[in-house]
Amino acid sequence: MAASADNTTSAYYVTTPIYYVNDRPHLGHAYTTVAGDVLTRWHRQRGEQVWYLTGTDEHGQKIMRTADANGVTPQEWCDKLVEDAWKPLWQHLNIANDDFIRTTEQRHTDRVQEFVQDLHDKGEIYKGGYEGPYCVGCEEYKLPAELLPGATDDVKLCPVHKKPVEWLEEENYFFRLSAYGPKLLEFYAANPDFIAPASARNEVLRFVEQGLQDLSISRSTFDWGVPLPWDEKHVLYVWVDALQNYLTAAGYGADPERFARLWPASVHLVGKDILRFHAVIWPAMLMAAGLPLPKRVVANGWLMVGGEKMSKSNLTGIAPQDLTAHFGVDAYRYYFLRAIPFGTDGSFSWEDFTARYTSELANDFGNLASRVAAMVGKYFDRSLPAATAAGEAEQAVAEGLATAVQTADRKIGEELDFAGGIAAIFEFVKQVNGYLTEQEPWKVAKDESEAGQARLATILYTAAEALRATAVLLNPLMPVTAEKLWDSLGAEAGLGALADQTIATVADWGRLPAGSTVTKGEILFPRLEEKPAV
Ligand code: MSP
Repeated sequence: MAASADNTTSAYYVTTPIYYVNDRPHLGHAYTTVAGDVLTRWHRQRGEQVWYLTGTDEHGQKIMRTADANGVTPQEWCDKLVEDAWKPLWQHLNIANDDFIRTTEQRHTDRVQEFVQDLHDKGEIYKGGYEGPYCVGCEEYKLPAELLPGATDDVKLCPVHKKPVEWLEEENYFFRLSAYGPKLLEFYAANPDFIAPASARNEVLRFVEQGLQDLSISRSTFDWGVPLPWDEKHVLYVWVDALQNYLTAAGYGADPERFARLWPASVHLVGKDILRFHAVIWPAMLMAAGLPLPKRVVANGWLMVGGEKMSKSNLTGIAPQDLTAHFGVDAYRYYFLRAIPFGTDGSFSWEDFTARYTSELANDFGNLASRVAAMVGKYFDRSLPAATAAGEAEQAVAEGLATAVQTADRKIGEELDFAGGIAAIFEFVKQVNGYLTEQEPWKVAKDESEAGQARLATILYTAAEALRATAVLLNPLMPVTAEKLWDSLGAEAGLGALADQTIATVADWGRLPAGSTVTKGEILFPRLEEKPAV
């Protein structure tokens, strides 16, 4: 199909895992979703076309059993949780997803049937039998060697869920995954950035090097899934159904123009627990279908509780909303990405969150913004003066900004090193604080000579201009706070909307026009209330 040049520009397409709706979202789910939101907002701020996808995984035995236990149909269960819990949380956390896919939607189930039919027609799927230990929590057959001992000799536990596995014996359809081992290894070697971080890549390489088994892709003992078009007694294995959400939402088989723009995906964000599905099974399925492979699979570490992955059965008792009620949504978005290097495990601590809120957000950043606005108000009647007496100290601030922008753009935009990128921005905030401490504008203000007033004007312009850039850099991470700062600097009148500022120009010194009306807006990070009893 012919498309105009505009339509074929490829978009930066980022996905989260689609989450199981057997329960409400917890801190761990929010962690990946916020990371994807910051990544896509960063690329939007670069002026790129972006597409951010999240959604829910609604088929399979786990969901079916949960619905049964609650006395409703699986569809009713999913509808309720999606509308009452999942979508509202993403809205609350200011997640700017472009689409929300549910695997029970017909736009998805139709595409899934076409996809597997195609693989079947190509001889990639055959009928066989399988028996082995199955973990419903993982929705995955396990290898006997990886199981943990249970209470008695004949009980074995899943190493992830620590719950007894079930012995399954079924006639299944199989995907010829074993044939793809060598091709996958070749692909990993040719695309060293495909899997990140390095620890995740190594794990996958070792796994594939051992040789792959064919994958059972259907189930016939229950019916909550997508029926196989050529044998409706079977439903498709939930993971094969789920992985295809990334294609469905990109317009595969339905909207060729959109598909050309979005596929292959730029980044699949995944927790490290589901890395193999995304870095082994998914690329093999795409190879079998003759489709291009995603550019990157990036695994985040786990939020831990008591040394274990935080999960439904093992929560802190703290919901994301409990934290946002106390710290605010923007501080929440900030904290987890700042405190835990992306890719490694980390624990949440109320004390650490409080300490970072107070020292980094309230003191270093919030106070800087309010002090500068207060001084422009007091000494220049809220009208930003021009910097007529700039010297080396001001030059150093401008250079500090250029370094911060370069580092943050590389770390956040390319390397997904959110902690490193945020640190670079906050280094700059610290530098501006140091600049004010050295320049002592409150003392310079007492010098009423023309030279004294010119210095005062220059110092305050420099600080306000630094804040202008900080607002742009923090917009992807803390959009509400950044907007408040943009308003308080009166920046929109001269520069337009905050969303329209680009990373490419953010370090151009002197963008905020003299004469902008600077007002002391509301406090960006108010003093915290007493810690609530949770
Ligand atoms: N439905 C599958 C994914 C299918 S994707 C085609 C699934 N869902 S899940 O609800 O279990 O969510 C998995 C994802 O949630 C993890 O991969 C991770 O991104 C996020 N997290 C869930 N618990 C987490 C932590 N404790 N810590 C960090 N991330 C966590 O697997």
